[in-house]
Amino acid sequence: MNGTLPRIVLAAQPSAGFDYELIVAPANVNIVPGGSTPALSFNGGYPSPVIRAKQHQPVRIRVVNQLNEPTTIHWHGMRIPIGMDGVPFLSQTPIMPGEAFDYEFTPPDAGTFWYHPHMNSVEQLGKGLVGALIVEEAEKPDFDEDLVLCMKNWHINDDGSFTALTTPQNAFRMGTPGRVMTINGQTSPTYEVPAGGAIRVRFLNVDNTVVYMVNSTDPDAQIIAIDGNPIAQAVTLKQHPMAPGMRLDLGVIAPSKVGETITFKHKNNPLVTLTTVASHLENRSLPKLPLNPIPAPDLDNAETVKFAFEWNANITPIKKDGKVSYNFWAMNRRSWEGMSKGHIPAPLATLERGKTYIFELSNLTQYHHPIHIHGHTFTVLHSNKKDIIPFHSDTVLLGKNEIVTAALVADNPGRWMYHCHIIEHLKTGFMSYIEVT
Ligand code: C2O
Ligand code: CU
Repeated sequence: MNGTLPRIVLAAQPSAGFDYELIVAPANVNIVPGGSTPALSFNGGYPSPVIRAKQHQPVRIRVVNQLNEPTTIHWHGMRIPIGMDGVPFLSQTPIMPGEAFDYEFTPPDAGTFWYHPHMNSVEQLGKGLVGALIVEEAEKPDFDEDLVLCMKNWHINDDGSFTALTTPQNAFRMGTPGRVMTINGQTSPTYEVPAGGAIRVRFLNVDNTVVYMVNSTDPDAQIIAIDGNPIAQAVTLKQHPMAPGMRLDLGVIAPSKVGETITFKHKNNPLVTLTTVASHLENRSLPKLPLNPIPAPDLDNAETVKFAFEWNANITPIKKDGKVSYNFWAMNRRSWEGMSKGHIPAPLATLERGKTYIFELSNLTQYHHPIHIHGHTFTVLHSNKKDIIPFHSDTVLLGKNEIVTAALVADNPGRWMYHCHIIEHLKTGFMSYIEVT
């Protein structure tokens, strides 16, 4: 514990209805005590504003680009029309420096989502352009406290200056981890919660690289939602791997005595502590979350599509426009060749609108990969390595040599990014897209 009691991250200002403005600009932020970090920010600070929207209600977010490079913003996990998906060239033209773009969509699902750019990602995400997007349930569940906790290991020195965000040696393996582990930009902060209260704890892994192994000193902590989607039956948290891009909602009943604590940890390292303060709450129980309207896959009539995730033997750098890049990874023998205004590669697969597909995801590498799809939500069905109770997810973590099957109903027309969420992996080959027509 460091004695600080931060309040919940500032909420963005809704002016009329759900209207927000995100100004993307460089800013110096304080992550290490006494140090200044030349970050990239939303609205001038870190943590980024928490955007709160409501299920089934339109939200409008103006993004103003004050960087000296183009950007776009992607709403991770949202099943929304392609035009709002925030991928350069595939769904919109990049937002150039000095320009603005209005994103407008109606969230079909309630839960814990997030937002980040989809350009120059190693740097833009790595330097701080990551934030939480919370979609409140149409009918609010009865929690006494709701904590939004963004996990990120900053690549910084003790004086706050940046260390390397990537090196080829690491991109070729697990990615480059940051040095300073933070929750909402602080090192193992403590939050006050009402004694005896029903607490919702939302973890978001907004890091570029690290897989957090989340566990708790509370043996009764319950997993209530994965990647934003409530699970049918809550399960007790033991240790849950959270790869980049993934979210985990936990429900805990705070100890009834004042000054008691619950600590959440990554392996043995404390991430965040909850400490109880006086309340009049008694006999509280965890509310049940309503399920999201994810279309049920029609498994009897599904078509299986196979995806092999492999190491690419090609380790010599490619030189393009004076820049050096690498192709370390390949999906179905293809490494992402990049995209520009005049050039969009062919899709990795084409799906027929309305049909169910079973993706067979084979990780043939010695490293883990969180595989993310845009615009759709998987129903994860089976793994060759562990027992699975089917659940919904937009980012499926494949362990080494693991084969997972996950179904989806291709109900959202468009060209949807499909990539590993370890940012250095997507930059070195593990990126593609899928077309739904
Ligand atoms: Cu967090 Cu392409 O996504
Ligand atoms: Cu990967």
